[in-house]
Parts: sequence; C-alpha cells; structure tokens
Amino acid sequence: MKGIVLAGGEGSRLDPITRVASKQLQPVYDKPMVFYPLATLMEAGVRDVLVISTPKDLSRFEELLGTGSQWGLRIEYAVQPSPGGIAEAFLIGEEFIAGNAVALILGDNIFHGDLGLSSRSSELHDEAIVFGYPVNDPERYGVIELDASGRAVSLEEKPNAPQSNLAVPGFYLYDNRVVEIARGLQPSARGELEITDINRFYLKEGTLRVIRLSRGVAWLDSGTHDSLLDAANFIATIEHRQGLKIACLEEIALDHGYVDVGTVMRSLEGMPQSGYREYVEKVVEERRSSS
Ligand code: G1P
Repeated sequence: MKGIVLAGGEGSRLDPITRVASKQLQPVYDKPMVFYPLATLMEAGVRDVLVISTPKDLSRFEELLGTGSQWGLRIEYAVQPSPGGIAEAFLIGEEFIAGNAVALILGDNIFHGDLGLSSRSSELHDEAIVFGYPVNDPERYGVIELDASGRAVSLEEKPNAPQSNLAVPGFYLYDNRVVEIARGLQPSARGELEITDINRFYLKEGTLRVIRLSRGVAWLDSGTHDSLLDAANFIATIEHRQGLKIACLEEIALDHGYVDVGTVMRSLEGMPQSGYREYVEKVVEERRSSS
C-alpha cells in the first residue's frame, strides 16, 4: 500500500507562527508535527510515501525528511498549487499511486494508540476504511453515523446538526479505485474536492468499513494555538511518564524491520546533541545489547 501525507493549507488560524513555516512543520513538543502522521503511516506498514504541500512550503519538507532512506522509506514530493481540497491529493498523486491501494493522512493529524488496523490494511480490495472517533464538537468535522451493527448509515461534512458524536479523523485507506472516484467528483460549495464525497461513494456502494476507535486512543487536533499546546502537553506527559517517545521515526523503522541498527547509527553521526538524539542512542544501545 502507498501512502500520502497531505500537508497543505495556509495554517492561518495559527498566525503569526505560520507566517514563515507551515503548520505541519511546527513543533509538537519535541518533533515537527509531520513526524506524527508519518509515524502513523509507517506503523500501518506503508513505506512508499508522497508528501504533498504548497509551492511555498514543499522544499522545507524535503529538507526535513529527505529521501526517507534513513527510515527505510521512499519519500517523493508533489505540489498542491492551490487549496483544491483533500481529495485532490489523489489526482496530484495519480502517477505515484500507480494503481495501488493508498492511505491518505493529513499532515496535522496526530494519533496515539492502537488503531486496530493489523495487516489486513495492506490488502484492501473493493473497500475503504475510515475511522470514527467520539468528540465533543462533531460539527467541526466529517461526521459518521453508525447503525447498531456498526455499519455506516450517513456521512456529512461539518453538519450544523450532527447525527452522531463520531468524527471522521483525517486518516483514510482506499482500494485502487480511489483515483477514478476522485476524478468523478464535483467541487463543493467551498470550491474543494471533498474527501467526504469520496467516502460517501464507498458508503453508497456498501464498501465503507468503519473502525470505531476505542476510548484509549488519542486523536489530537493541532489547528489552533490552544489545541497545539494541548497536543504538545499530551505528548510530553506520556513521554515523561513512560520514558518512551511517540513518533520517533528511527525507533519505528527498527521495530518494523525497515532499517537495521547500522542505518540508524549512520543517521546518528549527523544528528546534533538533543533529547531526540539521546533517545535514538538509547534505542540503538538496547537493540545492540539484545541482538
Ligand atoms: C477535514 C475533513 C473532515 C475531517 C477533518 C479531520 O476537515 O474535511 O472531514 O473530519 O479534516 O481533521 P478540514 O481540515 O477541512 O477542517
């Protein structure tokens, strides 16, 4: 399965901190925000990644993430020339997707915990997977309504009167028809190709699988000054308590066998002294003493 990180948008709600660097490059405690969605893709088994951003910001992502080989990934880059909507990512990424199943994650979506994906996600045929997450303010999101058996019955984008409290987070997995489906979409009233319209296609077809995230999973918002601070505090709290880092890409790459210890040791050579580096050093030491 291929993966797309969509890191577009103006980030205007975070102004002035987004004047020179986009929202997804901002720190969430000890890492740039984009590390978190990248970690989620890696944990879902994705190693081919396309990062899509604005003409202004794309080179910054390239500077930060490079080819991805340090994490056993192949990262490519593409521009979204103007805010054409989330679903436009599939048209921009058509060549990269090349007829494969594809997972799309928004560059500001931070997950922590078991999303219940397992290995089945890489074998998507004739279906899509979205998640449902209970929130206090569903009207801000795509909202999904489920019947008693957990099947989706309705899906609406930012409804005034939400049919449930289940928001649809910005992480979606699709079979290889998604590019065609995106091509058939009409722009919404706000002039964008809506991801919710893609999900509705699968809903109507009866092939939309919804994984209801358990209450132990955290899905964090980072689009306002307060929610960005809350997200950073959440990450810091868990990391301090456990002595483990969330979204340390070197550690995830080792855990999944995407790289060997030697590759991470070479990355360390160019890494400045920081708490992040110390953690990666500790991970390497543990791996070396247990092998
Ligand atoms: C977008 C999607 C929405 C989804 C949300 C998750 O909203 O349109 O369905 O629930 O991402 O972050 P937007 O970023 O346009 O507010």
